[in-house]
Amino acid sequence: MKLENRVAVITGAGSGIGRASALEFAREGARVVVADLNLAGALETVRQIKAGGGQAIAVETDVARPESVQTLVAQTLEAFSQVHVLLNNAAIQVNKTVEDTTVEEWNREINVNLGGVFLCSKFFLPHLRQTRGCIINMSSVNGFFVEPMCAGYCATKAAIIGLTKAMAIDHGKEGIRVNCICPGYIDAGLAWGYFEAQPDPAAARAAAGKLHALWRIGRPEEVARVAVFLASDEASFMTGSAVVVDGGFGSGLPPSS
Ligand SMILES: NC(=O)c1ccc[n+]([C@@H]2O[C@H](COP(=O)([O-])OP(=O)(O)OC[C@H]3O[C@@H](n4cnc5c(N)ncnc54)[C@H](O)[C@@H]3O)[C@@H](O)[C@H]2O)c1
Repeated sequence: MKLENRVAVITGAGSGIGRASALEFAREGARVVVADLNLAGALETVRQIKAGGGQAIAVETDVARPESVQTLVAQTLEAFSQVHVLLNNAAIQVNKTVEDTTVEEWNREINVNLGGVFLCSKFFLPHLRQTRGCIINMSSVNGFFVEPMCAGYCATKAAIIGLTKAMAIDHGKEGIRVNCICPGYIDAGLAWGYFEAQPDPAAARAAAGKLHALWRIGRPEEVARVAVFLASDEASFMTGSAVVVDGGFGSGLPPSS
C-alpha cells in the first residue's frame, strides 16, 4: 500500500473528486479526515471508507472561515495526532460572466476556492513540517484554458497554480512538497452545475466529451489515483508541479462536430 501509516486531510470530500480521493487514499492505507461543509456527504464518505475496512472521521468545515479551519486542525490532531497530506479540493463554481456575478458571489468564490487553499495550508503547515508532509491543491485545466461563463472560477484556478509554485519554493527546504492537479471535465458536481447552466444541458454534456482527445469526460477516481501518486513516496522529487489529468483536453473536436 502506498500511503500506509499516513494521515490525510481532504477538503470537499463529501462528494465528487474529493470523495473518490478519500476512498482511494483509504484503500492505500491512509487514515482520512473527510472535511466538508456538507456534513451528511462527509458522513457518507466515512461510512463507505469504514465499510471497506478503513479509518476515517468526518469534520464539518467551511474552508473559507479561519475559525472553522482551526477546528479542523484541532480535530485532526485529536483523532490521529499528526498529519502527512493536505488535499485542498473544496471549491464552488459561479457560472456567470463578471458583469452578471454579484459582489457576494464573487467574494464567496474567491474566499472558498483560493482563500480555502490559503487558510488550510496556513494552519496545517506547522504540523506538515513535523512529518515532512505534502500539500496537493485541486486546480483545473481552467487554470490554463478559460471557458465562457465562469470568469471568477477560472481566475481562482489560475491563482491556485501560482500559489502552489510559491508555496513549493517557500517550503521545499523543509521537505514539504506542494503540487497541484489540473483535471479536464470530470463526471462530478462542478461539471454537472456547468452543464445545467447551459441552454441545453444534455447537448453541453455530450459536447464536453468531444473536447477531450479521449472523446469522453473523466471519472473522479481517475483524478484520485493521481492524487495518491502525488501524496506517495513515488513522487518524492516532484514539487511546484501542475499535473494535468485531462484526457487530452483541447485536442479533441470542437463541440459542433
Ligand atoms: N468536476 C470537474 O469537471 C472538475 C474539473 C476540474 C477541476 N475540478 C476541481 O475538483 C474539485 C472538486 O470538484 P467536484 O466536481 O468534485 O465538485 P463537487 O461539488 O462534487 O464537490 C465539491 C465539494 O466541496 C464542498 N464544499 C463547497 N464549499 C465548501 C466549503 N466552503 N468548505 C468545505 N467544503 C466545501 C461541497 O460540499 C462538495 O462536497 C474542485 O476543486 C474543482 O474545481 C473539477
